[in-house]
Amino acid sequence: MKIAILVHSQSGKTRKFADSLFDKLSSSGHVVNLCQLETTKPVKGGSVRENMDISFNNLPSVQDTELILFGGPVWAFGPSPVIIAAMQQLGNLKGIAVINFCTMGFPFKCMGGNAAIAYMNRVAGTLGAKVLTGSICSNMFRDLNAQITSETERIAKLL
Ligand SMILES: Cc1cc2nc3c(=O)[nH]c(=O)nc-3n(C[C@H](O)[C@H](O)[C@H](O)COP(=O)(O)O)c2cc1C
Repeated sequence: MKIAILVHSQSGKTRKFADSLFDKLSSSGHVVNLCQLETTKPVKGGSVRENMDISFNNLPSVQDTELILFGGPVWAFGPSPVIIAAMQQLGNLKGIAVINFCTMGFPFKCMGGNAAIAYMNRVAGTLGAKVLTGSICSNMFRDLNAQITSETERIAKLL
């Protein structure tokens, strides 16, 4: 399967999740392209509820891609505005499966993780993607690496 992983990560935690997915899916025989998004101007924080002008140096082409994994940190109790901008700028995702993933600081998914995944799923669905169950891993009082490992296994089994 041809897979793209697009990740926004400021302090490296969501990138770690993306790397785990890359390693697992590549070693399972999939053709995987991992892209950590770079914005033209720094985006240090913010919310999807703000009107932000975000553009990219390296938004990849996803032509012929069968599955896209979109990942980003939870910001302001919602999704990363950077990953949402990337989804919107890719445009039509008809015929592509999407799995969204995020990392968050707070320990409970109700403190932004659920809202982030719901928002990302809604945008991907609006763009025509077939959306599969997403993943949330949290840092505070939790073993982030163990969650990443088990969520990576779960995602790999979906394919
Ligand atoms: C601007 C900003 C807002 C954040 N808002 C939340 C939040 O609402 N809920 C939460 O659980 N974590 C929040 N966090 C913590 C990040 O989601 C968490 O540290 C995440 O794992 C960082 O991912 P990264 O290392 O890939 O950037 C916020 C972090 C930043 C920088």
